[in-house]
Amino acid sequence: MDTTSSAISLRVNGETYSLTVDNRTTLLDALRERLDLTGTKKGCDHGQCGACTVLLDGRRANSCLQLAVAAEGRAVTTIEGVADGERLHPVQQAFLDFDGYQCGYCTAGQVCSAVAVIEEHAAGWPSAATADVRPEAGPPSLDDDEIRERMSGNLCRCGAYVSIVRAVAAAASQAAAERESAGDTVQAGGARVTA
Ligand code: FES
Ligand code: FES
Repeated sequence: MDTTSSAISLRVNGETYSLTVDNRTTLLDALRERLDLTGTKKGCDHGQCGACTVLLDGRRANSCLQLAVAAEGRAVTTIEGVADGERLHPVQQAFLDFDGYQCGYCTAGQVCSAVAVIEEHAAGWPSAATADVRPEAGPPSLDDDEIRERMSGNLCRCGAYVSIVRAVAAAASQAAAERESAGDTVQAGGARVTA
């Protein structure tokens, strides 16, 4: 019996893929080299740059630090899966509108991270930049310091940070407006309620 490889199925961007991988294969390598989903980039391969960020069950994760076998049964979303068909995700559109990239190498990870950051903030999660983390203080406003802190796991060698912060702020405002018009509000402590 071969104990060094496993037959797994990965659910990526709503599609199920069956493949046999060496047990040491990272999710990043499986995505890029086995599934040809090369939008996710390999920067440091050590969990330090964020270029490989994907969403695992809706939460951001460095795919270079995840084993493909451990992703079985989980929902993986890569940059190829964040858009709604031909319609860009609002975060992608904001990166275009605000010039949030230069070479673009970090962009897929930045966008995936920002999608999750906006969700995390809307759910009331504090960050290291949050001055008052008591539940009764309610969610902090997503100001530049909060965005910088929450996006600090994503490095950009080109230094497009100023525009990235503007893009994330714009997409977050749009998401908040859409939640408001849908009657969805966040209570102190982060509980989301629907009117
Ligand atoms: S390639 Fe994964 S964090 Fe750098
Ligand atoms: S745009 Fe070049 S690394 Fe970020």
